[in-house]
Amino acid sequence: MGKNKFDLTVNAISVVLTKRHKTGLGFLVRERQIKPKVEVMELVEDGSAFHSHLIQAGDVILAVNGVDLTTASYKESLKTLRAIPVGGKAVLIIKGPEGFQTHLQTTFTKEGQPRTVRITHPNPNPPITPFHSAKQPDKLSGGLRELQSVTNRDDNMIKSTQLVETSQLSCSLSQNKRSIDFQLLHHNRIKPPICDVPTDKQSPEDTGTVDKDTNTRDKVALTPVSEMPQIPNNKQEFANLKNWETDQNHRETLYLKACPINHCAPKKCNGSLMQPSNMVCDPRDGKPSVESVRQLAKDFIDQYFTSMKRNNSEAHGARLDEVMNSIDSTGTYELTKNELIFGAKTAWRNAPRCIGRIQWNKLHVFDCRKVTSTYEMFEAICSHLKYATNKGNIRSCITFFPPRNDVKTEFRVWNSQLIRYACYRQEDGSLVGDPANLELTELCERLGWKGKGGRFDLLPLLLQANGEDPELYELPSNLVLEVKLRHPDAGQEWLEKMNLKWYAVPAVSNIMLNIGGVEFPGVPFNGWFMGTEIGRDLLDTARYNLILPVAEAMGLNTKKTASLWKDKAILELNLAVLHSFQNDNVTIMDHHVATESFMKHFSNEMKLRGGCPGDWVWLVPPVSGSATPIFHQEILNYTLNPACLYQPDPWHYYKWKDSVMKKRKNKLHFKELARSVLMTSRMMTKAMANRIKATILYASETGKSYAYSKSLQEIFNHAFDAKVVAMDQYDICNLEYEALVLIVTSTFGNGDPPENGEYLAQALQKIVRDSKEDQKKAATKRRFQSVATATPMSRRVSTKQNSFSNDIQSSTQGVLANVKFAVFGLGSRAYPHFCAFAHAMDTLLGELEGERLMEIGEGDELCGQEESFRTWAQEVFTSACDTFCLREQVNLEDANASLSTSKFERADFRVVVHDKQVQPNVVETLGTMHRKKLSSCRLIRRKNLQSEESGRSTILIQLETKNCENLNFCPGDHLGIYPRNDPDLVKELLSKVRDATDENTVVVLEAKREKRSIIGNLKYWEEDTRLPPCTLNMAFSRFLDITTPPTPQLLKLFSECDVNQEESKTLEVLSQGQSEYEDWKFLNNPNLIEVLNQFPSIQLEAALLLKQLPLLQARYYSISSSPEIFPGEIHCTVSVVTYHTRGGTGPLHHGVCSSYLNSITDDEEVACFVRTAPTFHLPLKDNIPCILVGPGTGIAPFRSFWQQRLAEIRKGAHNGCTMALLFGCRNPNHDHLYKQEVAAAMKEGAISHAYTAFSREKGKPKRYVQNVIMSEIPDFVYDIVHEKKGHFYVCGDVTMATEVNKTLLKILCIKGEMTKEKAQEFINSMKTEERYHEDIFGVTLRTYEVNRSVRLKGKEKSESLSHK
Ligand SMILES: Cc1cc2nc3c(=O)[nH]c(=O)nc-3n(C[C@H](O)[C@H](O)[C@H](O)COP(=O)(O)OP(=O)(O)OC[C@H]3O[C@@H](n4cnc5c(N)ncnc54)[C@H](O)[C@@H]3O)c2cc1C
Ligand SMILES: NC(=O)c1ccc[n+]([C@@H]2O[C@H](COP(=O)([O-])OP(=O)(O)OC[C@H]3O[C@@H](n4cnc5c(N)ncnc54)[C@H](OP(=O)(O)O)[C@@H]3O)[C@@H](O)[C@H]2O)c1
Ligand SMILES: Cc1cc2nc3c(=O)[nH]c(=O)nc-3n(C[C@H](O)[C@H](O)[C@H](O)COP(=O)(O)O)c2cc1C
Repeated sequence: MGKNKFDLTVNAISVVLTKRHKTGLGFLVRERQIKPKVEVMELVEDGSAFHSHLIQAGDVILAVNGVDLTTASYKESLKTLRAIPVGGKAVLIIKGPEGFQTHLQTTFTKEGQPRTVRITHPNPNPPITPFHSAKQPDKLSGGLRELQSVTNRDDNMIKSTQLVETSQLSCSLSQNKRSIDFQLLHHNRIKPPICDVPTDKQSPEDTGTVDKDTNTRDKVALTPVSEMPQIPNNKQEFANLKNWETDQNHRETLYLKACPINHCAPKKCNGSLMQPSNMVCDPRDGKPSVESVRQLAKDFIDQYFTSMKRNNSEAHGARLDEVMNSIDSTGTYELTKNELIFGAKTAWRNAPRCIGRIQWNKLHVFDCRKVTSTYEMFEAICSHLKYATNKGNIRSCITFFPPRNDVKTEFRVWNSQLIRYACYRQEDGSLVGDPANLELTELCERLGWKGKGGRFDLLPLLLQANGEDPELYELPSNLVLEVKLRHPDAGQEWLEKMNLKWYAVPAVSNIMLNIGGVEFPGVPFNGWFMGTEIGRDLLDTARYNLILPVAEAMGLNTKKTASLWKDKAILELNLAVLHSFQNDNVTIMDHHVATESFMKHFSNEMKLRGGCPGDWVWLVPPVSGSATPIFHQEILNYTLNPACLYQPDPWHYYKWKDSVMKKRKNKLHFKELARSVLMTSRMMTKAMANRIKATILYASETGKSYAYSKSLQEIFNHAFDAKVVAMDQYDICNLEYEALVLIVTSTFGNGDPPENGEYLAQALQKIVRDSKEDQKKAATKRRFQSVATATPMSRRVSTKQNSFSNDIQSSTQGVLANVKFAVFGLGSRAYPHFCAFAHAMDTLLGELEGERLMEIGEGDELCGQEESFRTWAQEVFTSACDTFCLREQVNLEDANASLSTSKFERADFRVVVHDKQVQPNVVETLGTMHRKKLSSCRLIRRKNLQSEESGRSTILIQLETKNCENLNFCPGDHLGIYPRNDPDLVKELLSKVRDATDENTVVVLEAKREKRSIIGNLKYWEEDTRLPPCTLNMAFSRFLDITTPPTPQLLKLFSECDVNQEESKTLEVLSQGQSEYEDWKFLNNPNLIEVLNQFPSIQLEAALLLKQLPLLQARYYSISSSPEIFPGEIHCTVSVVTYHTRGGTGPLHHGVCSSYLNSITDDEEVACFVRTAPTFHLPLKDNIPCILVGPGTGIAPFRSFWQQRLAEIRKGAHNGCTMALLFGCRNPNHDHLYKQEVAAAMKEGAISHAYTAFSREKGKPKRYVQNVIMSEIPDFVYDIVHEKKGHFYVCGDVTMATEVNKTLLKILCIKGEMTKEKAQEFINSMKTEERYHEDIFGVTLRTYEVNRSVRLKGKEKSESLSHK
C-alpha cells in the first residue's frame, strides 16, 4: 500500500491495536452496501479498541497491516482481519463515520510528553436531524460535543480523547459516557401481547446490514451477572433512571454486564422491532464457536456458584474444569439438574419483555432432557399442562426437552403455544379462527389433520424429536381449560351471544433458552394471562378482529372515530375477560395489578442486582398505558444470559426427510394419536413419577425416623421419584431446587435435634437469619425449642382451593418459594418439648416461604406413634398427589396398603456360608455401618460406686484411650459406646432360628436380583451390603438390636412365618400398630426372645432377621473425667439398668450397654467415639460462678468439671470461684456417689459448696434436689443466676430437669419480684446467652411410672376427643 494512498489529514486515521485472546481487536463489524465493505458496528467493552479511545462505531476500515480493503469483498476483508494472530499487532487505517471529518492531533505537555487525541468534526452540512425533546432540550439538542481528556502517548496503545456523539437517538448508549440520560419515548404504539408469538415480519432494516459472516450466533455472547448490585463509583458507569411520576431515581449498573450487541445501532433506535437481532437465535447460522460457548458457560457457572455463595469454592473450580473439558472435547456440556433450574429461573428473571417477572423464583421445572421420541414429548406436555392448569389455579412451569447439539437432531414443538386455536381459509379468502395460526393449521392439514372448521378448534401438537419429521398429537381436550366470556353487568347479554371463549394457560413453546451456552430449542413454558393479552387476541385486526362486531353488538356509533367506539369496545371486552376468568376461579391479572407488581419487582431487582432489563415498549400495557405506573418509569433494555430468544419457525428451515412430507406416514401417526388421547392414567403416573422428585430428609438417634422415612418412600414411590437422605448427608444448596421435601425427624436432648439433624438445622437457621432484615435478631442464637413457636405467617398451610394461590402481586424472594414441604415429628410426650425439633424445622421451612402441604404430624412413642405416622403419611401423600395433579392417576388404596405391608419377600433372600471364613473387625465394621469414626478403648478399671447394701449398681468405668486423637474431648462432652448384646440372650435367640448355622461359621446374606440380557431376564444372587459376612453370633451380638420390642411391621413378617392360626390372629392384630400393639408393647417391653416365646409357632429364618432387625445403636455417657487429671483415659459413671417389666411384676430385663460395661474384661475392644457437647462446657472465663445440679448418675459430667478446676488450681491457673454442687440420692449410706472425691475437691477449692438431698433416708421426709434449692438456698441461687450472671447446669433425668427449671422460675418470681412471664423470659435469655445448660439422659427416673401416667393422659385426651 503506497504511503500516499490514504489522505490521513482528511477523514482517516491510523491506529495500532493488539489482538487479544477473547475479545480480538475489540470491535464487531458489519457489511456496508458500498465499498469499502467493513464498518465498525460496536465496541466490545474492555477490548483493545475500547481502550484505545480512538475507534468509534461507524468507522470504516480502509486497510489493515498494509492490506488495502477499499476494493476487497466483505469476505476477503474479514479473512484479513481474522488472519491477525492473537497477540499480534494490527495497524488499521480507518475513516470516520460518514458526514464527519476525523483526524488525530498530537500536542506536548509542559513536561514534553506527547498527547494524542482524535478529533471528529461534522461535515459543514451534516445530514443529521437531531431529535429534540420538549422535556429535555438541554440534553438532546447538543449535536456534537467535544470532550478533551488527554493521556500520555504509548507506543503500543495509543490513547486519546474522543468525541462523544450525543445526537444519536436517545437510547443509544455511548460506551464513553459517564451516565446516560433517557428521553422517554411516549408513543401510543399498540404492542404485541406479552409472551405471545410475534407475528410481524422482521424489519429488513434490522438485520439487513448485520454481518452474517462474523458468525451472528456469537453475538449472543452474553456476560455474567453477579448477584450483587454493581456499586457505582467514580470509575464506573451507571445509568440514572428516573421515574417521572415520583421523581425517584435509580442507578442502573446491571446493564454493564449485558450482551455487547444491542437493539440499537449508532444512528437509529430499534426499540420497536419485534425480533431485534440480539434476541434471535437462528440455527441456520451454524454452531456457536467453542470460544463463545466457553465464555457463556464460565459466566453461567460463576453466576450459579455465586447464587449459592460458593463462588471460588473447590466445588466451583472443579465444576468449571469439568465443563471446560467437556466443551473442549464435545463443543458442549450437560447442565446439572440444579443448574438447569437456576438457569430457567434466571432466564425468566432476565426476560426484558415479560411483565410477570416478580414470580421468577416460582417456576416449576420439568426436566425431560432424556426423552427420545415425540410420544414421550407428548406425555411430558400433557403432564405440563395438567400441572400448570391446576383446576384454574395456574402455576408457572417449564418443560425442558433435550438441548441442541445440531440442527439435525433438534427436539422442537412446532406450535407457537401448546394451546392454540386453528385458522381456516375460506373460499372467499376470509379466515375463520385465529389468523395467528394460519400457517400452522395449513401445515397440520397437509399432514393429515382435519379440523372441524370452527372458530375455536384446538390445534394438534406438532412435535419433532431428534431432528426427525414432526408428528401430530391431538391435544386431549380434558387437559385444556377454557373460559367462556360473559359480561359482568346485567343487560349485557350481547357478549354471551357472541360465543367467545379463551384458554386458561398461555404456554409459549417456540421460544428457545440459552443457558450458559447450552441451547434449548424445545422448552414450553407458561405463566398466566394478563387480561389485555386476551383482549388483543380477540380484537386486533390481525387476529380475531372483533372490535367492530363488539362495538356493533354494544350499539355504539361506529361512524365517528371521535366517539371513541373502539376504546369503549376494547374496555368492555377486557372487563368481560377479567370478570369471566375470575368468576371461573382461573388465575388472571389485570394490567394495573401486573404493572404494580412489576414496579415492585423492578425496585427489588435494583436493590438485589443493581438493575432490571426491561423493554418499555412491551411492558407498558396496550390499554390505559399512562394510567399504569410503568409508563412513567425509565427502563434500560438489554440482554443477559441465561436468555429467552426467538428462533425462526421450524417449517422455514426444516428439510423434510421425504419431499412429499411423508403424508401417509404421518396420517398413520395421527391415527395412533387418537389412542394416545385415551392415554391411561397409569401411563401418566409413570411419566410423572420419572419427573417429580420427592426428597425425604430424616434425622434420627435410634433409627425410628429412618424406618419411617423408608415407609414414606414406599408410598411416595407410587407417584413420585422418592429418595431418603439423612440430614447430615444432604447438601443444603439443593434445597431451593427441590420440588417436594418431606421431613421425618425425632427430637432429642430437651427439644434439640438428633445429632445428624444439627447441621441442616443450623444451616437453615442461618439462612433465615440472613434473610431477616432485623440484624439484631440475627445476632442472637435461637434454640430450637423457641423456633418451634411459629409465627402465623409461617404457619400458612395450602388448602385445596387456595393451594399455591398465586399471590400475583407478591414477590417471591423466599429461598424456598418453589418448594412444597411437610414435616412429621417423632417424640415422646414424657418430654416437655414434645417434637420440638420437628416443629422448629416446620417453622424454618415456612419462614423461608416453602409451601406447607399439610400441618405438621406428630407421633408420640408412648401413644400411637405408628398409627399417627400412617395417618399422616396417607394424608400427605394424597395432598401431594393433588398438588402435583396426580390424584386421578394414582391408586390410593394400593399406595396406602404399602404402608402396612413390608417389602420383605422371603424367597428373595437367603443366608449362605461365605467362601472366606474370616470374621470382620467389629470396630471398623460398626464405623462403616454408622458412618462414624470409631476408636477402640480397653477397660483399665471398674468400680461399683454404690455400697454393697444398696442392691443396685452404679459403676465408674475407666477406659484407656492411648491418647487417640479421635477421642480428644472437653469436660461436658459425651462418649458414644457401641455395646454387645447379652450372650445368653444371643444364645437363646440362635436356638430359635430354624436355619441357624453353627456359631463359628461365617455366613453372608444374599439377595435375589434380576437383570436384562440378550437371552432374557437373568436372576442371580448378590451379597446384601447391610451387614458384612460374619457369624450369626457376631451379627446378633454386635450389629443387630434384639432387645427393642419389634415394630408392627416386623410382627407382620413374623405372622407370615408359617405360624399357627391362633398366633397368627394375635400377630395380625398387633401388626396393625394400633392401641392393642401399644398396650402390649408398653406393658411387656418384650425383647425378641420373649416375642418368640409368646409365639412359639413362628418358623424364624436367619435371613429375615439379618435383613429386618434394626441396627444396634450406640449409647451415650457423659464423660466423668478431665483429660488434665487423667490423660489418656476416659471415665464414665454408669447406672446399671435392671428392671422388671409390667410395673415390677414381669421378667427381669437388663439394659444392654450398662450391663455390657458392667461385664467387659480388659482384653475386649470397646468401640466408641466422642460426641462434643459445646452447649454443656464450662464457661470460658474462670471467674464465673456455676451451680451444678445432678442427682444420681446426673453427677457424671460434674466430676469432669471439678477435676478440670482441680487441675487448673493445681497449675495456679485458677483461684477457685463459686462452683456449687447439688446432688441427690436415695440414702447417704447406699448411693452417695463420689462422696469422698467431692470432699477432697472441696478441700482443694475446686468445689465451693456441696448440697445433698436424700429421698429415702429412714424416718426423714423425701427430699429432692429441687426441694433443697427452694428451701435451703433460694437467695444463693438467685444471687448467682441473676446478680452475678453465673451459669446453671442440670444433668440427668428429664422430669427432674423440668422440675428444677420450674423451681428456678419460682425463685426468680419471688426473689426478683417478677411475673411468671418475665421469669420465663429471663430463663430463655439465659439459654440464648448460653448460661443455662442441660444434659438430658432421657426418662431414666421412675421410667415406668412416668411413661404410664403420660400414656394415660394421652389416652384420656383422645377418648374425650372421640366422644365430642
Ligand atoms: C446425652 C446422654 C448422656 C447420658 N449419660 C449417661 C451417664 O453418664 N450415665 C448413665 O448411666 N447413663 C447415661 N445416659 C443413659 C445411657 O445412654 C443409656 O440410656 C443407659 O445406660 C441405658 O442403656 P442400656 O443399653 O443399658 O439400656 P437399654 O437396653 O437401652 O434399656 C433402657 C430402656 O429400657 C427401658 N426401661 C428402663 N427402665 C425401665 C423400667 N423401670 N420399666 C420399664 N422399662 C424400662 C426403657 O425403655 C429404656 O429406654 C445418657 C444418655 C444420654 C442421651
Ligand atoms: N435409659 C434408661 O432407662 C436409664 C438410664 C440410666 C439410669 N436408668 C435407671 O435410673 C435409675 C438409677 O438411676 P440414678 O442412679 O441416676 O438415679 P436414682 O438413684 O434412681 O435417683 C437419684 C435420686 O433422684 C431422685 N428422684 C426421683 N425422681 C426425681 C425427680 N422427679 N426429681 C428429682 N429427683 C428425683 C430419686 O428419688 P426416689 O427415691 O424417688 O427414687 C433419688 O433420690 C436406675 O433404676 C436405672 O436403671 C435408666
Ligand atoms: C435422651 C432422649 C431425649 C429425648 N428428648 C425428647 C424431647 O425433648 N422431645 C420429644 O418429643 N422426644 C424426646 N425424646 C424421644 C424421642 O424423640 C423418641 O424416642 C423418638 O421416637 C426417637 O426416634 P429416633 O429413633 O428416630 O431418634 C427423647 C429420647 C431420648 C432417649
